[in-house]
Amino acid sequence: MTTSLLNQLSALVGDVFSAQGLEASLGRVVISQRRELGQFQCNGALAAAKAAKKNPRDIAQGIVAGLEETGHFSDLSLAGPGFINMRLTDDYLSRHFAALSSDPYFGVRADHTPEKVILDFGGPNVAKAMHVGHLRATIIGESLRRLRVFLGDSVVSDVHFGDWGLPMGLLIKEIELAKPDLPYFDTNNKGPFPETSPVTVDELQELYPAASSRSKEDPAFLEAARAATYELQQGHAGYRALWQHMLNVSVAETKIDFDLLGAYFSEWKGEADTNEHIPVMLKRLKNEGLSEISDGAVVVRIEEDDDKKDMPPLILQKSDGAVMYGTTDLATIEMREADHQPNTILYVVDARQSLHFEQVFRAARKCKSVNENAHLEHVGFGTVNGKDGKPLKTRDGGVVRLRNLIEDAIAEARKVVVDAGMGDKFDAATLDDIATKVGIAAIKFADLSNQRMSNYVFDLERFTKFEGKTGPYQMYAAVRIKSMLRKAKEQGLNPGDLKITADAERNLILALSQLPEATEAAAEKNAPHILCDHVYTLTQEFNSFYHDCHVLGEEDPTVRASRLTLCAITLQQIEAVLSLLGIDVPERM
Ligand code: ARG
Repeated sequence: MTTSLLNQLSALVGDVFSAQGLEASLGRVVISQRRELGQFQCNGALAAAKAAKKNPRDIAQGIVAGLEETGHFSDLSLAGPGFINMRLTDDYLSRHFAALSSDPYFGVRADHTPEKVILDFGGPNVAKAMHVGHLRATIIGESLRRLRVFLGDSVVSDVHFGDWGLPMGLLIKEIELAKPDLPYFDTNNKGPFPETSPVTVDELQELYPAASSRSKEDPAFLEAARAATYELQQGHAGYRALWQHMLNVSVAETKIDFDLLGAYFSEWKGEADTNEHIPVMLKRLKNEGLSEISDGAVVVRIEEDDDKKDMPPLILQKSDGAVMYGTTDLATIEMREADHQPNTILYVVDARQSLHFEQVFRAARKCKSVNENAHLEHVGFGTVNGKDGKPLKTRDGGVVRLRNLIEDAIAEARKVVVDAGMGDKFDAATLDDIATKVGIAAIKFADLSNQRMSNYVFDLERFTKFEGKTGPYQMYAAVRIKSMLRKAKEQGLNPGDLKITADAERNLILALSQLPEATEAAAEKNAPHILCDHVYTLTQEFNSFYHDCHVLGEEDPTVRASRLTLCAITLQQIEAVLSLLGIDVPERM
């Protein structure tokens, strides 16, 4: 395993600082934004001069002299008040490239301390089709999951189904109205109950909005739904059986969406899984004086002295005995602690739930529900808007279903690939596969390349363009390299050792060497857009290289072999990063 190029250089420059009696950490090296001045830059001489009360240029001069002796630099220069610019020898770069090439993780694991991470994302609800909000939760969550696995973390991903609480009571009562003869409603009937579900998922998706509006008009219905929720939680056999059917058909439905989006969950748990633990938790919190009664409800007070805003208590149990969203989330934390002792739990959920998570996290700390070193974070995200700048709605103002969004993206992608002439090039099955991959790449890259917290406009025409910073373009760049490498193989041309001859090659190697920084920053900030930026830089640098340097047409066989290697490794890294974004690259396009 090789440590990152920047870490290596920082250590090397740090040693020179130390040898001159200066703080080693000031030798931190960054990649240079102005390549004409150098490949790397170190600005530590300024701080060192301040500390030593000396002239920064003198200090920098001394460092440059020390660096010269290492023999690793082809160029060293001073700029401004004491900035040091550096260029590595081709020898050094080639050695680093060789190390990167033989590491399937391109150096990202060497400096990463593995963690146990639980990712809570997806978050669908029983009887409700996943909507555009779940699209972001799924895309971002899955990308962070893949990133953490790539970094070497041990990752648990939990879909955390919304399968408990009042919506369940509403559904039970609505089904009872529609089909009163079913065996589930009789309290004395202890089963066994029918094996097949009395409702399909389509029916459920109609029943829920109906129940929800009925509860707003009819207080008696709402009361009955509350009572049913409570009985369900207490173990009413018929309700449980009916609930299990509703859950099963909903899970089967969401699996189709998750498969389309390539999301993987190691745990298919839900709110309901906390049912046994909740009374245990409530008892402990009461005994330890952590909860109290307020207006008949059991609450945990969570305000802190330096609060700037109002921090309402977390309600665990209402006076009618019902438990809340916060209760199941707190209990879930306790169960996760018992099962996994995580270092980190990340919740990829709409930013509008931020107060809820703040309350739950504070309660978890106060109640010691989780080990005190654990990091709990709400990884929020902004909304997906329509072209009018308002949250995306269907034409008649309804909720946009996730499935429809995906289908629209694939249909748009099909148009674009057919327009690009691929319709005649491929058989129907291949064309389907390409259109699907392009459509999925379009929505994923568009979503992930934004700063997570900002809103963005859903614009398929823009997302599916084969140019610029889009998913389809990054994918296309990779496909082009694939086809070139195929051609090389057909011509019997083999890759060989690196022999650097041009600046475009050096820049491409530098870009490839930056993956450890990109993955580490993306994980630290839960920011997949950093990975999008990285892959975009790679495809840009590759284009410059391909523009400046012949590959198949190169006459010198050693240079040609070297360039084929560079192409192959670039392709590997582009594909690896695209796969972290959940994007698959087809063989041909
Ligand atoms: N089901 C919720 C929703 O649709 C999201 C669940 C998020 N996860 C959690 N542990 N609360 O809004």
